Amino acid sequence: MSEVSQAHPTYNYNVVKQFSVMAVVWGIIGMSIGVLIAAQLIWPELNFNTPWLTYSRLRPLHTNAVIFAFGGCALFATSYYVVQRTSQVRLFSDKLAAFTFWGWQTVIVLAVITLPQGMTSTKEYAELEWPIDILIAIVWIAYLINFFGTIIVRKVSHIYVANWFYGAFIITIAVLHIGNSMAIPVSFTKSYSMYAGAVDAMMQWWYGHNAVGFFLTAGFLGMMYYFIPKQAGRPVYSYRLSVVHFWALISLYIWAGPHHLHYTALPDWVQSVGMVMSVILFLPSWGGMINGIMTLSGAWDKLRHDPVLRFLIVSLSFYGMSTFEGPMMAIKTVNALSHYTDWTIGHVHSGALGWVAMVSIGSLYHLIPVLFNKTRMYSYKLVNVHFWLATIGVVLYIVAMWISGVMQGMMWRAVNSDGTLTYSFVESLEASKPFYFVRFLGGCFIVCGMLLMAYNCYRTIRSTEENVQLEPKAA
Ligand code: HEM
Ligand code: HEM
Repeated sequence: MSEVSQAHPTYNYNVVKQFSVMAVVWGIIGMSIGVLIAAQLIWPELNFNTPWLTYSRLRPLHTNAVIFAFGGCALFATSYYVVQRTSQVRLFSDKLAAFTFWGWQTVIVLAVITLPQGMTSTKEYAELEWPIDILIAIVWIAYLINFFGTIIVRKVSHIYVANWFYGAFIITIAVLHIGNSMAIPVSFTKSYSMYAGAVDAMMQWWYGHNAVGFFLTAGFLGMMYYFIPKQAGRPVYSYRLSVVHFWALISLYIWAGPHHLHYTALPDWVQSVGMVMSVILFLPSWGGMINGIMTLSGAWDKLRHDPVLRFLIVSLSFYGMSTFEGPMMAIKTVNALSHYTDWTIGHVHSGALGWVAMVSIGSLYHLIPVLFNKTRMYSYKLVNVHFWLATIGVVLYIVAMWISGVMQGMMWRAVNSDGTLTYSFVESLEASKPFYFVRFLGGCFIVCGMLLMAYNCYRTIRSTEENVQLEPKAA
């Protein structure tokens, strides 16, 4: 079928297709780099004494690739799709849409070139240097105009709740990125932050935590509010709860950043405000999770037959797990144990892999056949195998990190009766090694699942309807 006859008469699906396909591609690349750095922590010689293959340079490449390339493309794809479908109108501007696609891919390619060369602003999750930061800001503002332009010209009076979450994510990321990236350039590839000392740290974690709250959470909640009801074929459990969820979440998240800076030069009262806000944040987070899961009430049996729905619902269980754990880790006395240990890494990945990656994968499996005008994915058996590879992989990863993290924290604080340390640092590293292997294994499972996904998507896109396997339709 030609591209022209596939083009949707009302909606701009082209940009959604482009971002969806690139989400899968960047997912494989970003997670494979994750597996490589996981392996380097066991076998350091895997850097082959090559500067651009060292852990320190590949780690920020991993975080940028999974968050901004994989997560970012999934967010662009689904938000452009959802805003058109729920507003019953084409995107405000096709040209701006194309600009955001090519602009965002350029940003990612520049990250892939500059980070391994060691060019970095050194700010976590904001490592890219100032010329790329300016490009990000321009692309993001084009995205903002296009998204809200579409909302303004919508044909239905109501603004569906998923768009509220996407909208909050887009506005907040613009403010955070521009605020935190303020820097004084000294050359084309080097700049210094405009902020200094404790103020710099506070700005950085105001950004860092809200990158979690708005990039890794609010946008994906938008996904949840559209794709779970769609895939389940039921209305959202409580629309009223979704509105309370929205306002409570966005008004609390913005204050929680200081929990990243406990026991630092930050004023004590600021740390305590961060702690209290984080603990309260548990409530809207679980309210949202319950709203998503209860959407299935009365239709739980669908979980047995539909692996796409399983991805979406299990992602919410991981969301619940990480948003229970996060508030707990924000309590100062708990943080005294967890900070600097693998516990944090376990928490990160129960959120990032369990929640973010799985809700994206579920949404993409829903989207791909719709976008390419097919009745179903090529094979739901493969979706099911992917589901189990991903779930087992995530569980191996996070359980290994929890055990390793708590063990490290306990070993570092153990003292003998004469006040000397019971264990040296190297002993704690030695003890962590088996758990690093389990994490590596989990990572391999996850990447294998992503490769199956790529194959399944490829066969779906290339198939004619007649060639599709005759399996029960998943939704
Ligand atoms: C195959 C899957 C993955 C593997 C094997 C993996 C592996 C790793 C490793 C080894 C680290 C460094 C840990 C350390 O410094 O001790 C890391 C850090 C990180 N990864 Fe992943 N990762 C994977 C997927 C993801 C995904 C999908 C996301 C986000 C959507 C993500 C987000 C992060 C973040 C934010 C960090 C930094 C954590 C921190 O600084 O506390 N990862 N990952
Ligand atoms: C109620 C919600 C949450 C709270 C209160 C919370 C709290 C925390 C705390 C206390 C830390 C450790 C800070 C430290 O010791 O340095 C942390 C780290 C982190 N969390 Fe969460 N968390 C929440 C949800 C999530 C979710 C859903 C994700 C991912 C999707 C996530 C991603 C991260 C990342 C990436 C870090 C590591 C940051 C770094 O040091 O590089 N969090 N979180």
